[in-house]
Amino acid sequence: MEKREELYKGKAKSVYKTDDPNVYVMLYRNDTSAFDGKKVEQLDRKGMVNNKFNAFIMQKLEAAGIETHFIKLQNDTESLVRKLQMLPLECVVRNISAGSICRRLGVQEGLDLNPPTFEFFLKNDALGDPMVNEYHIRSFGWADPAHVERMKELTFKVNEVLKQLFLDAGMLLVDYKLEFGLYEGRVMLGDEFTPDGCRLWDKDTRKKLDKDRFRQGLGSVVESYEEVGHRLGVKFD
Ligand code: TMP
Ligand code: ASP
Repeated sequence: MEKREELYKGKAKSVYKTDDPNVYVMLYRNDTSAFDGKKVEQLDRKGMVNNKFNAFIMQKLEAAGIETHFIKLQNDTESLVRKLQMLPLECVVRNISAGSICRRLGVQEGLDLNPPTFEFFLKNDALGDPMVNEYHIRSFGWADPAHVERMKELTFKVNEVLKQLFLDAGMLLVDYKLEFGLYEGRVMLGDEFTPDGCRLWDKDTRKKLDKDRFRQGLGSVVESYEEVGHRLGVKFD
């Protein structure tokens, strides 16, 4: 598929048009960013690792009956995706307390959350992605109530599939963020799933294997992503 003009450049990925108006190219760059872009570094191989990691996870989700925007890998750092009409919301499920919930609620890291919690955040960099509730979403018209229900349903379904997938490979899925869009009127997953957008800990040692290694300056960032991939059976070369 022929790559045409750049449509959007995010902090770690770029989206390009193609000769098909319904298909975009998603380019995974080596840029690694945290804290709303305040910390940015280039990490060798990360684009390739995340692109292939994401393709593996998307195929697992599709096999479990969860529709995603992913079509196929195009090369080492690019994938083809369907064009969605994105909803400006981030859906976060947490199985274990970590990150912003610890700061906001003053709870310690590592508590099992039973049942898992669900949070919506408004996708707005200038405001630092504030947490919002379903009344805000309804009052400001960011999404229809039926689409809100479907986003929650799909985000929890992803939890059931991926929690078990990671557990079988000796890891805990601590939390993750997903974004959705509309495709022919249906709510569809329109996001990557990589260690950039979730937290993963070793089941026994609770060693951090995700982007917290970058956020917290723990080192071996891409090596950890590759270790997660190898444990799952992802082929990187
Ligand atoms: P948080 O603890 O910072 O709220 O993040 C929860 C999870 O969602 C964590 O795995 C990181 C991910 N996340 C993103 O990838 N991007 C975002 O913009 C946000 C708010 C969270
Ligand atoms: N999207 C947020 C940021 O880049 C969350 C993160 O730290 O990954 O600032």
